[in-house]
Amino acid sequence: MNDSNSDYSNLKGKIIAIDGPAGSGKSTTAKMLAARLGFNYLDTGAMYRAITYFALTNQISPSDGDKLAELAHNLQIEFETHEDINRVFIDRKEVTKEIRTPEVTLHVSEVSAHKDVRESMVKKQKEMGKNGSIVAEGRDTTTVVFPDAEFKIYLIASVDERAKRRVLDLSQTGTDTNIEEQKKDIERRDHHDSSREHSPLTQAEDAILVDTTDLTIEGQVDKIISLIENSLKNKI
Ligand code: DC
Repeated sequence: MNDSNSDYSNLKGKIIAIDGPAGSGKSTTAKMLAARLGFNYLDTGAMYRAITYFALTNQISPSDGDKLAELAHNLQIEFETHEDINRVFIDRKEVTKEIRTPEVTLHVSEVSAHKDVRESMVKKQKEMGKNGSIVAEGRDTTTVVFPDAEFKIYLIASVDERAKRRVLDLSQTGTDTNIEEQKKDIERRDHHDSSREHSPLTQAEDAILVDTTDLTIEGQVDKIISLIENSLKNKI
């Protein structure tokens, strides 16, 4: 498929929400999908990473819910997307690379589990999506942030495949790691994200399950577009 001449004007204003566990392919897929449709891209995980990065560099503990909630409320988190690069800013300072370090990854699940942190983030995310024409991805975009999204996708992939992808991603940013280490980290985060009290990662009843284990990124985007087109046909 990959027909760049396709006309997607019938999707204008709609919201596509994609959730799934770490390494399931959400970010790359959502970014490419947004570019193909001419939509905005919202990486909600980057927002939790930004709070975590700021906390760690300002000696605020990932367990300090009150201080983190204050940060989440006050910090201005912004994105600038050009083609496949999604730049992230906290109070106008670029933190695109800083929010992807292993240290941030280690603490982000704990930070994102605080109820008041989530409330502030969800409010900002709803605001960012209020005009539609957006592809949002994360852990609760189909269930909490955009429960009325027109299209909901839940991406999964085997732990082995997800670990392989992480090793490759990290090697591109100069971080040396291995599959076993990444498997452990993915399993730890899966457990944390799925078992937390507030907005745990879960498949929304009306989300379509897509297993990306054997799909390329292009294949994932094509599959989601064809699911969207089928679902539109069924609604007519
Ligand atoms: O997608 P990611 O790995 O960048 O997300 C980082 C962390 O943020 C993830 O471990 C859980 C949390 N997160 C969340 O709780 N809710 C979201 N909507 C997105 C991410």
